[in-house]
Amino acid sequence: MAIIKFPNQMRWGVATASYQIEGAVNEGGRGKSIWDTFSKTPGKVLNGDHGDVACDSYHRYQEDVDIISDLGVDFYRFSISWPRIFPNGTDEVSQAGLDYYHRLVDALLEKGIEPMCTLYHWDLPQALQDKGGWENRETIQAFTAYAALMFKEFKGKINYWITFNEPWCASFLSNYYGKHAPGNTDLQIAVNVAHHMNVAHGKAVMALREIDEEANIGFAPNTEWNEPYSNTPEDIKACELANGFFIDWFFDPVFKGHYPEAIVEIFRKNNAFLHLEDGDMEIISQPIDFLGVNYYTGGVARYQENAGLFETERVDTGRQKTDIGWDIYPEGFYNVLTHISNTYGDIPIYITENGSCYNDEPHNGRVVDEKRIDYLKRHLVALNRAIKSGVNIKGYIAWSLLDNFEWAEGYSMRFGLVHVDYRSLKRTKKESFYWYKHMLNNNFFETN
Ligand code: BGC
Repeated sequence: MAIIKFPNQMRWGVATASYQIEGAVNEGGRGKSIWDTFSKTPGKVLNGDHGDVACDSYHRYQEDVDIISDLGVDFYRFSISWPRIFPNGTDEVSQAGLDYYHRLVDALLEKGIEPMCTLYHWDLPQALQDKGGWENRETIQAFTAYAALMFKEFKGKINYWITFNEPWCASFLSNYYGKHAPGNTDLQIAVNVAHHMNVAHGKAVMALREIDEEANIGFAPNTEWNEPYSNTPEDIKACELANGFFIDWFFDPVFKGHYPEAIVEIFRKNNAFLHLEDGDMEIISQPIDFLGVNYYTGGVARYQENAGLFETERVDTGRQKTDIGWDIYPEGFYNVLTHISNTYGDIPIYITENGSCYNDEPHNGRVVDEKRIDYLKRHLVALNRAIKSGVNIKGYIAWSLLDNFEWAEGYSMRFGLVHVDYRSLKRTKKESFYWYKHMLNNNFFETN
């Protein structure tokens, strides 16, 4: 039996995102987002699911805040729906949209919960997509105006801001692989989108520095870890590139002020080019206060000629998988964190997402999700090792508070610590909720 103890100053949290939980898509003057359009396009989301009602948190936010308060976390990480604030993407501001987030933030503060707010968790106003979306450089300006308004509006209330959640998903998964909104399948568009999001990130950081000197800002890229199948230079190189697609491509511009040449070269070979304007890299590489790291999975990979952009393929080594089919790979979590710390320096890190999909249902009022507890424990053990190795970890935020709209998987995949019955909208705290609550109350847990 080992005791896993965390530093006393470690802060804990739980996360959600606007389109995944809010519902009420036609209320409070909200405009359409690209996810309304995408989810209503036949064949894009499993079972034709969409976020019209979701968990109805727009109406049930007080109940959700009470649940968060019972959990006893320090942070609630949520996102703002841009089209609730700017229904047309720019110009006109919806007071009802602002009021909703004031109600939510006030309810959190009243319970002593620190709000951590993501500005972009993928729900771009459809009106901006109609003008080219992130492919259009003008969207950078629209985002900066939206960010600046939020910073002014919530000055003194929100002290932790995240510009972009998982820019890899919002650029490549959405515009090259076509799996997420807006569903393009064009590498050049994806590269443009990724670069514009990076510039928008930097502009938002600059805006915050002018508006609120006290607040902290960072971004939350998604990471994965590929371990080489063999020691051949081909397999090692293939894994470096596959990891770099998630890590180097987004971290290098922010922390080093340039894009990684090896990946630029691969894009070039595939006829996709970076279009930089003067000053872009200085804007992107503004110093940030913290880094958010999202980590779920990883695995073993090897070189395979013509296998995708990076000629890399995953090898199934028989690792256990969660219900969404992702390998459970806590060692990868440790490797990602130590790699980041060794490569990018001593930046304070919050784990902004980590969690697992298990589709357990309630029986007699209980949801016994032992496997989620096991996943959590194994990743917290890895996190603890990373802290002991000197990685500057400030906090851990579990994904997710509630079962919710899991993007292209619709409602079929459940990541919550709290079960949601999508018909009655009843919330049921799972065993993992009680385990997490107990753990963060003590700041340690026992494991084999
Ligand atoms: C996203 C979440 C998503 C989760 C599980 C992350 O990619 O930020 O919105 O629900 O992972 O897929």
